[in-house]
Amino acid sequence: PVIYFITPTAFRPAQRADLTRLSYTLAHVPNLHWIVVEDTLEPSKCVSDVINRSRVKATHLFAKTRTDMKMKYADPNWRLPRGVDQRNAALAWIRTQLSDATTGAVYFGDDDNTYDLRLFDEIRKVKKAGVWPVGIVGGLFVETPKIGANGSIESFNAVWKPERSFPIDMAAFALNLTLVLQNPNAGFSYDVPRGYQESTFLEGLGISRKNMEPLAASCSQVFVWHTRTEKPTLTKEKKKMLERYPKNIEEFL
Ligand code: UGA
Ligand code: MN
Repeated sequence: PVIYFITPTAFRPAQRADLTRLSYTLAHVPNLHWIVVEDTLEPSKCVSDVINRSRVKATHLFAKTRTDMKMKYADPNWRLPRGVDQRNAALAWIRTQLSDATTGAVYFGDDDNTYDLRLFDEIRKVKKAGVWPVGIVGGLFVETPKIGANGSIESFNAVWKPERSFPIDMAAFALNLTLVLQNPNAGFSYDVPRGYQESTFLEGLGISRKNMEPLAASCSQVFVWHTRTEKPTLTKEKKKMLERYPKNIEEFL
C-alpha cells in the first residue's frame, strides 16, 4: 500500500532545517506520498524548494490556522493545539482525490520528529488502525501501549492524562485509508480539551482500544521519537518581526 504521510508545517527559524532532515528520511522510503500542508495563505518558496529537491512524490497544500487559534512565537508550545486545520485539509484532500481507493495507509508525521526507516514497514502492516511506542514524549522515555499475553492492548503506560480513551501521541498510530473514507466526518477540532486530538479523532473513526493492532514487535520497539527542535531566541535578529509572522519569511532563512 501507498503511505500517505501528512505533515503540517509552520514558519519558524528552524522550519527549513527540520523539513530538510525529514525530506532526507522520506527519500529513502519507497511507495510514499508526502502530503505537506503549510500553515500559510499560499505555498511558500522555502517549502516548495525542500519538497522539489527531495524528489519525494508530494502534494503541497496550504491551510492557515484560524487567527484566534494561532500561537505567537513566544507562546509556550502547549497553549493551543497545533496542526488542526492542516491535518483536516489533508484529510479533505484524501477524501476527494482518493475517494475510490481500496488500499493505502495514512500517518500523521510532524516535521520535527525523528523517524527510523523501520517505522514505514510497520505503517504498511496496518489493517485498520495500528499503534506503537513513541520515544521521548509525555514525560517518559517511551510512551507505549502495554500488551497482554493474548497479544492485544491491556493498558497504556501514559502518565499525562491517562484517562484519555487513547493516551498516545499523534506519531503513535497509522490508519487504513479506507477507514478515513468510510468515516467522512472524523477529523481534528478546536472544540476538545488539551491533549484530546488523538482520542477524539480515533473515536470518530470507530476505533476502540480492543481493535487497535499493536505493531513494532508487540510494541517492544521504538521507531519514532517526539524530538523537538530548540526554539532559537535570535536575540541579535529582528525578533519583533518574527513575532508578527513576517510576510517576507525569506529574510529569516
Ligand atoms: C505534539 C504532538 O506530537 C503533535 O502531533 C500535536 O499536533 C501537538 O502536540 C498538539 O497537541 O497540538 P509538538 O511537538 O508539541 O507536538 O507540536 P509541534 O511540533 O510544534 O507542531 C505539530 C506540527 O504542526 C508540526 O509539524 C508543526 O510544524 C505544525 N504546526 C505547528 C503548524 O502547522 N502550525 C502551527 O502554528 C504550529
Ligand atoms: Mn513537534
